[in-house]
Formats: sequence, structure tokens, C-alpha cells
Amino acid sequence: MTDTFVAAIDQGTTSSRCIVFNQDGGIVAVDQREHRQIFPRPGWVEHDATEIWSTVQEVVAGALARAGLRADQLSALGITNQRETTVLWDRATGRPVHHAIVWQDTRTAALCEELAGEHGQDRFRDTTGLPLASYFSGPKAAWLLDRVPGLRERAERGEIAFGTMDSWLIWNLTGGTEGGVHVTDVTNASRTLLMDLRTLQWDEAILSAMNLPLAMLPEIRSSAEVYGTAVGRLAGVPVASALGDQQAAVFGQACYEPGTAKNTYGTGSFLLLNTGRRPVPSKSGLITTVGYRIGGAEPVYCLEGSIAITGALVQWFRDQLGIIRSADEIETLAASVADNGGAYIVPAFSGLYAPYWRADARGVVTGLTRYVTKAHLARAVLEATSWQTREVVDAMYQDSGVAITTLKVDGGMTANQLLMQHQADVLGVPVIRPRVSETTCLGAAYAAGLATGVWSDTDELKAHWRPDVEWSPRMEAPVREREYANWRKAVERSFGWEN
Ligand code: G3P
Repeated sequence: MTDTFVAAIDQGTTSSRCIVFNQDGGIVAVDQREHRQIFPRPGWVEHDATEIWSTVQEVVAGALARAGLRADQLSALGITNQRETTVLWDRATGRPVHHAIVWQDTRTAALCEELAGEHGQDRFRDTTGLPLASYFSGPKAAWLLDRVPGLRERAERGEIAFGTMDSWLIWNLTGGTEGGVHVTDVTNASRTLLMDLRTLQWDEAILSAMNLPLAMLPEIRSSAEVYGTAVGRLAGVPVASALGDQQAAVFGQACYEPGTAKNTYGTGSFLLLNTGRRPVPSKSGLITTVGYRIGGAEPVYCLEGSIAITGALVQWFRDQLGIIRSADEIETLAASVADNGGAYIVPAFSGLYAPYWRADARGVVTGLTRYVTKAHLARAVLEATSWQTREVVDAMYQDSGVAITTLKVDGGMTANQLLMQHQADVLGVPVIRPRVSETTCLGAAYAAGLATGVWSDTDELKAHWRPDVEWSPRMEAPVREREYANWRKAVERSFGWEN
């Protein structure tokens, strides 16, 4: 029997990686490259989409070389990506018209406020599941059409394509200016503020409110189907899945039943709860999003708690403050003291997302006394991640009535034992990391493999999932609730700053 391999590209916020998986969902080879973060002004974050396309090609070549495989040995290729980051490109030249505007960028806060007007922030929530916030892509595209001279006219003539990173990569992989397909999947489309969650189509009333021409938008497709065939280095390989990275992690963590949830700790953290075949509206500051749609099957929806800054706070502590030299050092420094010494850090660098959605929030450090050392601050940095997660878990309970009994986790920060223990402590439930913690790529590979017959159904995929490490709660409830109250006071202090 010949071996079967599926590759997945994860185009993330700070890096792109390619992983080749075997039929058991095991990792055969990985390659990864970082790309530049461009900060033109406070609150603005951009990426160069051309650089991203080059690094993606490099990691694909690198992963194949490490696996010792040729492209024609791949059964399928899946795509997963940082969501909401918006790129507009010229269909004739294939060149982006501007740097991509990254999901964390806050430049559209005023535009969102204007769109909200007297209707309020929830103007489009019934249709899209989302509040009007700078996080989402539709207003980013509108900002570009307003600011780049002549762009609106070109977009109206159909000369400009809009995409999140999935669309940009699929278009390039399938031929670019030589016949590349312009598509997106339902999960990425559900992050634009432009898609109707029930019909899974672009909503014309919202497009007209944001003054966005339909001609620039990709076709919305399912998360697992063959969109086209790759050309170039991957010539002949079916491009067979696309999912936003957090939804891909839901799929890779085998959260296929309603009530199952996962939290991924990356630049930010994103906790998604599968709510089954119907979208559950949120009243507690969460968002409603498409979890996945496999071919013509019915879509599966999720409630999501999006936290903008978690791992990025560790990076800031390292790069901007220089207190540690490498991200791993934070654990040793934090472990040198028994607690946070009374200090809390609220990393509202892009305002605060779930459950607050406050564009006027800015980062704060509270509880400082002369007793506080850099080691206490290191603890406060890590604890900011677990407290923010606790807030979205509480909101999830309020919205769905589902109490999470264990939390499946993945992502880079799950290597940090101290953080994972604190996470279990503040939630009061066990936290479990699976054997294959590269769940984002795995989810995209699974979806691509389902579309091409490598795997037959989700039951087969579920059988691959195995626990690796489990952290059990140890903190006394009164301590937990006292510290949580302090955290919430710190959050209150982050509100009310001028943009
Ligand atoms: O919504 C933003 C999210 O998709 C970014 O994920 O892992 O690239 O930080 P990550």
C-alpha cells in the first residue's frame, strides 16, 4: 500500500507554516517562516501580502523537502489563515494595492462608530453575528476604498479583488493572473461583517451601507471542497479546504458535537464552542460565527470569545520592554515568585474585544507598590491570558447555558506549564492538550482530506484525537474569586481613553 499525505498551509499573524500529515493525522514534516509586522502609527498594523505569498511558497517547498516528498505525492492541500486581515489586489497585475490591514489594526474604529450611528454597535448583529468593531474585514476594505485614490472606481469596474488571506493564497496557488480562482470559505466570510449567517451569502443591504461593490468580493464556498488545482511547485495538487485558523482548530481538536469547546493560545486567544446546526445569538459580548461546512452538508455554528492580545503581550514584554530575551524565559522568571504581588496587566492594545468590545480601552498596569518586581510582572503577563479566558468562559455559560467541563487547548502558549496550571485554577475545570497540538494545520488537512476521500467522515477523524497532558485545578475557590474581582477592577481602569 502506498502512503497517503495531505499538506496544510497555516498563514498566521506572525508567521506562515506548512505541515505534511500522514493518513493517521501524524506530522511528517514542518517548515515555518516569520514575516514583517509593520506598525505605521499607534494602533495600526499592516502586512505585506506579497512577502506573505513568498514565505508561503518557501515553507511549502521546505516542508516537502523535509518530508522527502514530491508534490505529486500529496493527495490534497488545505489552507488555514489568520482571519479578518484584508488585502485588495489588482486582478490584472496580481499586485496588492496597499499593505494588508491586519485584524488587530484599530484605524476603522471611527468608521465603525459612524456606521453604528443611532442604530448602535449591534446594527448588523442579527444578520452577521458580529458587533461593529475595527476587528472585522468589511470596514477595513471600505477604509481602503475611501483612502486610496481612484480605487473605488476601479473596484466598481471589477478590476480589484478583495480577500482575506485564504482568498489571496488560493488565487495565487491556482494561477493568479493566469486564471486563479477567487473564492473564500464560509468561516472566513463570517468574519467580514458582510455575510448573512443563515443564507451564507453576501448581504446586499450591508454592502450598500458600507458602500462596497459586490464586484470585488470572492464567491463564498464551503470549507471542504476542491476549489481548483494548484499550478507551479504544487502543480496538480487539489486545493481542497479553507478555514479561518480558529475554526480549523475546532476541526482539528475534533470538536464535532454541540457543547464541545477549544481555546487556542496564539497572538491572541480564541475560545470557540460548537453550538450545532443553528447560530446562537450572543447577549453577553461573544460573537456568532460559522464553525465549518463540509461540502454540501449543513453548516455548523460556534459561539466565539475573541481575545486580541495574549501571546502578543509576552512578545511586548520581550521586545518593547526587554525584560526577557526569549519568550520561554517568562516561565522561569514568573516561577521565581509565588504570586503576582498584587499586580495585574490588562493588555488592551487594540481596545478590548470579547466580552467588552471597547475601542476606548487602552492597556493598564494596576496594583503597583514598591514590592512589585519584574518577576511579579511576568506573572501578571501570563495571568492576563487566563483571566481574559475566564471572562469569555463565563459569557459562554450565560449565552448557551453550557458549562464547560473540560477545556481542550492548543497553540504555542500551551507549552507554558505555569500558565496552563493557572488556567485550570481560574476556570476550576481540567485543561487538556492533545498529542498533536498543531490543531490548526491538522484541521485544514482533515477538511482537505475529507473533500478528496483520504478520510471518510468525522468519526474516523475523532478516533485520531488523543490527550497528552492534563492540568487539574488546585486553587481554593475563595482565592480564585478574590483575584478575579481584582482583575475586573483592573479592566474597569482600562476604559475611557481618547482614540
Ligand atoms: O481572528 C484573528 C485570528 O485568526 C488570528 O490568529 O493565531 O494568527 O494570531 P493567530
